[in-house]
Amino acid sequence: MTHTPTDLVDHTIGPYHLERLLGQGGFAWVFVGRELDGTPVAVKILKPRYGADPLFEIRFRNEAETAAKLDHPNIIRIRFVARSGNYVYFAMDLCTDSLGARLAREGPLAERDILAIAADVARGLDFAHRQGVVHRDLKPDNILIHSDGSAVISDFGIARAVSGYVASTGVNMTIGTPQYLSPEQAQGRPLDQRADFYALGVTLYKAATGEVPFTSTDWFELARMHVEKPPPSLRKKRPELTKRFERVVMKCLAKHPDDRYADAAALLSDLQDFDTRLRATVDVGRAPVGTKERQVSWRLVAAIVVGVALLVLLVKLMR
Ligand SMILES: Nc1ncnc2c1ncn2[C@@H]1O[C@H](COP(=O)(O)OP(=O)(O)O)[C@@H](O)[C@H]1O
Ligand SMILES: [Mg+2]
Repeated sequence: MTHTPTDLVDHTIGPYHLERLLGQGGFAWVFVGRELDGTPVAVKILKPRYGADPLFEIRFRNEAETAAKLDHPNIIRIRFVARSGNYVYFAMDLCTDSLGARLAREGPLAERDILAIAADVARGLDFAHRQGVVHRDLKPDNILIHSDGSAVISDFGIARAVSGYVASTGVNMTIGTPQYLSPEQAQGRPLDQRADFYALGVTLYKAATGEVPFTSTDWFELARMHVEKPPPSLRKKRPELTKRFERVVMKCLAKHPDDRYADAAALLSDLQDFDTRLRATVDVGRAPVGTKERQVSWRLVAAIVVGVALLVLLVKLMR
């Protein structure tokens, strides 16, 4: 059986000829592939070591089916889901870039470029949330860019799949990417669509400054920062950013979900408002961060951190 993704390059899986590896995460490889008629696609393949496990197969297919149900210009379009021998895979539209790759290449982006991407993501989130789907793992790598510059949300459901897996192992934790984790996720609390606005806030912060608001190599410390530390001022890092931009990002980054946007339509309306107003002259007042900071149960946070460590160990042992 194939153990490295490069072994698959130049091979055919189902109807797709795989040309080169695009990216890989914990559970899957993503290739540039071609349909028989030559149309380029992205093919995401569940790593074969998981392909034999029905639980992983069901959850991987769930990811594809969740995204496939969401037919919207700002959500990645899924074309085909299938199994071929040991390989479970799905094909989707091939995008030319990702926000993550663009930030790695270009560093911080101009405010108007960030606003255009944010508006696209807000449109996609609005649609997904209305269908009852919370992404839970929004970050620059999961925001893809088409050749016309429009942004699409991708990678639906891995976070959901992992949390389901964790639940079945008895460790109650929702996993996202730690730098983009909302305070409620960090505390293992129930979450709703407003967790996606927090992750988008971290994403916009990174796009504007080149840095995420909180960094630490220590999970416990990072979780604590998400829960209680106010994000460093955006405009101190980059004075040319407008106050309005800072206010939108800080509202997304509010510690308590009630202090964030209630829904993506409200966020989109703030983003669209931008271009029609005189930026520098608008007084935005104080950012609402921390207005409803709640008391934190550190025991809970510690339990979650231990849970995550156990999970990481478990996943490593399974490899
Ligand atoms: N449809 C696509 N078009 C272009 N690149 C893609 C596409 N899907 C994924 N990628 C690339 O592969 C990477 C990993 O894909 P993703 O679906 O996010 O997998 P994972 O679940 O492992 O994070 C992405 O960050 C992106 O760089
Ligand atoms: Mg991803």
